[in-house]
Amino acid sequence: MSWLQLANKTCIVTGAGSGIGAAVAKALSNAQCHVVMADHNADGMENVLQEIKSSSLDYSSSFHHVVTCDVGNEKQVRDLIQQADSFAETLTCESREESPRVRMLVNCAGITRDNWISKMAEEEWDDVIDVNLKGTYLTCRHFLDQNRVDWLFPKGNDRSVSSGSIVNIGSIVSERGNLGQVNYAASKGGVLGLTRALAKEVAIRNINVNTVIPGFIHSPMSHAVPDHIKERMIHQISVRRFGDPEEVADLVCFLLSPRSSYITGESVTISGMIGL
Ligand SMILES: NC(=O)c1ccc[n+]([C@@H]2O[C@H](COP(=O)([O-])OP(=O)(O)OC[C@H]3O[C@@H](n4cnc5c(N)ncnc54)[C@H](O)[C@@H]3O)[C@@H](O)[C@H]2O)c1
Repeated sequence: MSWLQLANKTCIVTGAGSGIGAAVAKALSNAQCHVVMADHNADGMENVLQEIKSSSLDYSSSFHHVVTCDVGNEKQVRDLIQQADSFAETLTCESREESPRVRMLVNCAGITRDNWISKMAEEEWDDVIDVNLKGTYLTCRHFLDQNRVDWLFPKGNDRSVSSGSIVNIGSIVSERGNLGQVNYAASKGGVLGLTRALAKEVAIRNINVNTVIPGFIHSPMSHAVPDHIKERMIHQISVRRFGDPEEVADLVCFLLSPRSSYITGESVTISGMIGL
């Protein structure tokens, strides 16, 4: 994992208490990256942290900070970024370029509230938009607060200055549609548009912003889908299996890493499907 050059950096991961976010937190730890785990499920994060600590992999060079946070709540998100910077400041820093503030953000927090549109309550629409789309906006907004960007990411394309990276998680559902998911598809389509527009805004500051678009991935979210629907889904997948969260996490780590420094404003699909 040292090839990724993520060691001794710090990354915020939302939705780190389960599924893809948990796998990202583990993969970053394995790359000796420090991780600020944020989720509204404190127990989930505690379990993930225990798994990291008891794993046979060497996570000893990676430090963790856990923040219970609802990504749809602006005050809690502002506090998350402040806590993340304070945590990073407790870690060593050798130069301004290696300023211990946090330069990487992964937005994995997400929910579904599936229903046919004829029955969909306004609350089901609002909840999904609030977490998936507004939550992504809020974390990006406060991660890129004017004071932070002026200090951490001054304008100019000097690649010797440390760069930043944001990875948002979209969904194949916004590309292909899916029964009972107009709210979810709209939220993930919004994430895609937000990512492209934001990438243009911050390119001059050497910050890359990309969307990872998973297909069907094993996680508590996908396990909630009824078996007969999952069976139908598998037949849409060329490789005839759901993906593992770890496979998504590897792609996320690559997009966070300086190894992908010339990729921004992109959406990268990871679905096992050929010719979408
Ligand atoms: N699993 C899939 O097949 C799949 C496919 C495409 C996209 N995705 C996306 O990947 C991301 C991760 O999903 P997953 O499959 O790991 O699901 P998951 O349910 O396992 O994990 C989602 C996490 O987000 C957290 N969360 C929910 N609402 C929150 C809030 N308001 N504030 C903070 N945290 C909150 C949950 O507590 C949970 O830990 C989501 O954005 C999801 O939409 C998943």
